Amino acid sequence: MNPVQTGHALDLARRQRRLRRTAGIRALVRETRLSPEQFLYPLFVCEGQHVRREVGSMPGVFQLSVDEAVREVEAAHGDGVPGVLLFGIPASKDAVGSAAYDDNAPVQAAVRAIKRHVPDAVVVTDVCLCEYTSHGHCGLLDGTEVTNDPTVEQLVRAALSHAAAGADIVAPSDMMDGRVGAIRRALDAQGFEGVAIMSYAAKYCSAFYGPFRDAAESAPQFGDRRTHQMDPANAEEALREVAQDIEEGADIVMVKPAMPYLDVITRVKERFGQPTAAYQVSGEYSMIKAAAARGWLDEPRVMMETLTSIARAGADIIITYYAREAARALRDTNR
Ligand code: PBG
Repeated sequence: MNPVQTGHALDLARRQRRLRRTAGIRALVRETRLSPEQFLYPLFVCEGQHVRREVGSMPGVFQLSVDEAVREVEAAHGDGVPGVLLFGIPASKDAVGSAAYDDNAPVQAAVRAIKRHVPDAVVVTDVCLCEYTSHGHCGLLDGTEVTNDPTVEQLVRAALSHAAAGADIVAPSDMMDGRVGAIRRALDAQGFEGVAIMSYAAKYCSAFYGPFRDAAESAPQFGDRRTHQMDPANAEEALREVAQDIEEGADIVMVKPAMPYLDVITRVKERFGQPTAAYQVSGEYSMIKAAAARGWLDEPRVMMETLTSIARAGADIIITYYAREAARALRDTNR
């Protein structure tokens, strides 16, 4: 008889490890499955021709002229990514962000060109003023304060101009009060009742947007966005924001950033059961890129783990700069 008696107390009816023994079994019991069909791919569109300028703080992300943006959408579509989210970098900016509703500005031109060359691509446009104002704020200023109601009027103009160019979905990212309802009414009044609204409903005032502001050249010249974007400490408030946007007519609601707010994604999805998007923002992407460049993280695995966690939390749609890379990785593992 064994005097040590090891394992005597281990009489387990439930051995969780049974279902982890082989790749085949693990796949059978996997709860969350990522698909490229869930991804939206953000693109930065600028003036000019044949422009493909890499963003210093976002390796692999480029400012693209319209012709190059069309090529990128074609390539993304070939990878299985259904759609893109467009941001504009205008040639000139002013205090009221008038380039946001210029029918010939980069975003509007890109929407028309993409719809012509890749008609199946889902085209979503970001609606905000920060890329278009000389001061880099998301709205019209009164002194140093970002006004609400006059800003909403400008956002409505931008959304209408995107819809007229052929956008499928407009995505207000400004966090002004009442903008979803105002945009919905204006779209309906102008015959764009088929254009959907994806609202950045719970958008936090986050330091993770830093690299984006390089990409979109939209850093505020003074101050910050704390008087309109949400306090990172608040989740109940996110539910109120989402409820209000749904009430006003949002078809898809978004939580942004994604990974630091997975709890919010889960609560939004469980509470409202609406199509829910999450945005893996620039800082989430750049953080992985930077660590991978130093050999500190295994990029392909971290990419899939973060995207899986966002889907597991409850997001139906994931907006990510990794859309193409992840789509290709998924295709390769399914082959
Ligand atoms: C525009 C906007 C921002 C982002 C998306 N839309 C920047 C901001 O609010 O400052 C950030 C996206 C990212 O970081 O990838 N208002």
